[in-house]
Amino acid sequence: MEDPIGSNRKFARTGRSWTALRKDLHRRRTGDLDWNDLRNLKASYNAGEDVADVAWQAYSLFQGDNLLYGNLLYPSLPAMAEEVVGMALELFDAPEGACGTVTSGGTESIILAVKTARDWAQSERPVPGRGEIIVGRTCHAAFNKAAEMLGLHVVRVATDAGFRADPVAVSDAITENTIMIVGSAPAYPIGCLDPIGALAALAREHRLWLHVDACVGGFFLPFARDLGERVPDFDFSLADVTSMSADLHKYGYTSRGASLLLLRDQELSRFQRFSFNDWPSGEFITMTIAGSRPGGAVASAWAVMNYLGHKGYCERVEEILDIRRRLAAMIDALDGIHILGSPVAGIVGLGGDGSFDMAALRDTMAAKGWQFGPLVDPPGINLLLNFRHGAIIDAFAADLAATLEEAKAGTLERSSEPARYGN
Ligand SMILES: Cc1ncc(COP(=O)(O)O)c(C=O)c1O
Repeated sequence: MEDPIGSNRKFARTGRSWTALRKDLHRRRTGDLDWNDLRNLKASYNAGEDVADVAWQAYSLFQGDNLLYGNLLYPSLPAMAEEVVGMALELFDAPEGACGTVTSGGTESIILAVKTARDWAQSERPVPGRGEIIVGRTCHAAFNKAAEMLGLHVVRVATDAGFRADPVAVSDAITENTIMIVGSAPAYPIGCLDPIGALAALAREHRLWLHVDACVGGFFLPFARDLGERVPDFDFSLADVTSMSADLHKYGYTSRGASLLLLRDQELSRFQRFSFNDWPSGEFITMTIAGSRPGGAVASAWAVMNYLGHKGYCERVEEILDIRRRLAAMIDALDGIHILGSPVAGIVGLGGDGSFDMAALRDTMAAKGWQFGPLVDPPGINLLLNFRHGAIIDAFAADLAATLEEAKAGTLERSSEPARYGN
């Protein structure tokens, strides 16, 4: 857990030279993982050094500019944000009149989606009690964070055998207080795509807000589909999808600190907007949780999207799909371990058949230096693939095969640290 910090009270008396600080920074990060280390199968959206360079250069050009004052001082920023949103709306087949906002990350997009849905419900279809949101068990924890902040309640329902939200369970969970349902495209823990079409039918029948969380898959699935992969409809092509979240700083490959909240109908954005006038500085209007917003994040997203273009994204997705197929073949050849469900994007979950301690295998692979997301329920391994992982996937599978033998022999132990996702 991240503890509150504040015990180290040492304000520098005088400044130091950049040369000295730079050296200090390099020394400080010697214990850190390099984010694009090839053994990082946890959170490395590595699209190549050239892409990282474009992201960084564009960010640094605008690093002092603030999107909060975009319309007043830095009109290039809202213009770039408009283009970024427009590209995403086209990608997700949004109808005329749809709109979007650049946010700081998936969690902010999700909190804003929940706030917008809550205020829409209060105005358009009030419920008698505390508003409820129904999500599948694998849905991201950010929805619980949002609900906690916004006075709502999340109902997590069972997934089916394929780790997808079960529409029957969702339907059974709908009450007079339900305002919103959520589908993940895909969900982070196991990488499976919820049945968005079936959820859309429920949303229509009960007049509910349907949010599609495409934070991790938004800049993957459309390209996979264009490459001929079978990707069920998950976006605004389904008429009852009300909003979507899609992260630019994941498979969009831009600098950290950029995501999108998209709304089917601009008319709904009045429930997203915050506006306040009764203070000395005049009208204050924002569409985001943040006030000041980094101009660099928008410039970086704009530059990377235009640098890669549809073709560049497709090339990276094609490579990842190939790595996923190679991994699947190698896992297939192992006895006792399998891929969970049917992954649709770059996330793959691995589980065991129950004949050995999968949690001990997971912890031992982590102790051997492989970085991946832990799965707790079912115990397993969450891999997040990038297009450079072709270089290590054979080594990973070989290490997994050897560790599996040890697990079957019962010689492995679980870590005493609890498996966790964040800090
Ligand atoms: C499906 C999904 N939703 C939401 C999030 C939260 O995004 P962030 O960490 O950018 O706040 C993630 C992060 O991995 C995710 O995979």
